[in-house]
Amino acid sequence: MSEKLWGGRFSEKTDKLVEKINASINVDKRLYSKDIEGSIAHVKMLAHESIIAEDEAGAIVKGLIKVHAQIEKGEIDYSDELEDIHMHVEDALGKVMEKASGHIAKKLHTARSRNDQIALDVRMYLKDEINNIISLIIGLQKTIVQKAQDHIDVVMPGYTHLQRAQPLLFSHHLMAYYEMFKRDRQRFEDCFKRTDVMPLGAAALAGTTYPVNREFVKELLEFSEVSENSIDAVSDRDFVVEFISDASIAMLHLSRFSEELILWSSSEFGFITISDAFTTGSSIMPQKKNPDVAELVRGKTGRVVGNLMAIITLLKSLPLAYNKDMQEDKEPLFDTVDTLKICLDVYARMIPNIKINKEKMQNSCSKGFMNATDLADYLTVKGVPFRESHALSGKLVAYALENKKELQDLSLTEFRKFSDLIEDDLFEYLTLESMIKRRKSYGGTSYDNVKSQIVKAFDELNNSE
Ligand code: ARG
Repeated sequence: MSEKLWGGRFSEKTDKLVEKINASINVDKRLYSKDIEGSIAHVKMLAHESIIAEDEAGAIVKGLIKVHAQIEKGEIDYSDELEDIHMHVEDALGKVMEKASGHIAKKLHTARSRNDQIALDVRMYLKDEINNIISLIIGLQKTIVQKAQDHIDVVMPGYTHLQRAQPLLFSHHLMAYYEMFKRDRQRFEDCFKRTDVMPLGAAALAGTTYPVNREFVKELLEFSEVSENSIDAVSDRDFVVEFISDASIAMLHLSRFSEELILWSSSEFGFITISDAFTTGSSIMPQKKNPDVAELVRGKTGRVVGNLMAIITLLKSLPLAYNKDMQEDKEPLFDTVDTLKICLDVYARMIPNIKINKEKMQNSCSKGFMNATDLADYLTVKGVPFRESHALSGKLVAYALENKKELQDLSLTEFRKFSDLIEDDLFEYLTLESMIKRRKSYGGTSYDNVKSQIVKAFDELNNSE
């Protein structure tokens, strides 16, 4: 005879290997707190609707609190035979209630299935984690804005195609990441809304014959809505897909940031120095100081994107309603949560520990003809149509290259060989400072723009607390 909670119709023992593949306890044990909280709400509802007696519910709640304490203290042995966290909690409840009223523990699962129970647990868990992640993003954004403010006037080369393009304020470049993380935060806030739907009461798939009060459970567990369709409630994990997708986008942003930090910290760039606490050495090359944190974050992006593929593939073509395949949703979900959290956290700690090599950044701006667009603009302001100014500036670049000079090193006489509209004021026009100052179109890199972006960002961050 099988002793399993579902063992009524079974006469043979489950195969050991089946037990192993069936068990999810090693993964879903992290849901114990939510599972117990959900059960307490469920049992209170059962009593409230007189489905079980008030004193029975009271005894079960007491028992569940004991089980919670046991798990916290590590006093519960997990075993594959009991499959998952739901069965472990129920089994432990039976044991703690054994002496007084063991049979009462068996009433807990009235009007409920593990199908709606797991949907509830995952939603409760994810709501908390989304909030944790939003706080971590805000923490990271703060360090970014602070860094931008501390280095407001540092000029660096801006790149397109990784070729020097136009000068930028380093603070402006950093604030680009502020914007990316702002959208990430908004995506998680939005995902929260769709996660915040209470599925309990859907039971196995069709709802239940008991007069349950789903609103009551929803209120107790602080959900915003109850699910409308019992089949949908137990079948879909689109909120998990959405979460991992949002996490993948956030990781993509972190991976781009990482790539830049890695490049900038190389001797070839030398734009930044990451402090010792956030770098590691080499076991063979004594001179090495490696940007491992950035590299690991870049690498972990692959894991999270892999998790996204896993959950999408898992759900593809799955018939309604619950299928055991869905038990496989937790590993990618939990791994995504853990990975994203540690990456955001370590980044927020690392950013303040990065030294900005102002001179190096600034000096890199004096080479590479980054003022060629401004030379064209200068001519355009003097009345030359832009396409013609562009061509003239291009010719001047070619001339300077031939003569192994930069544009700002040419003499007025050399410039005037190409256009007599060029006057002495060009030299001031081509300085880094005036190039930055003139880019005052909304969202551009001028000092004034970036300063007000920083003020706005600090405001947004303070208001989000
Ligand atoms: N451990 C299961 C899961 O994570 C819980 C639901 C099991 N339902 C079932 N009918 N066997 O999906």
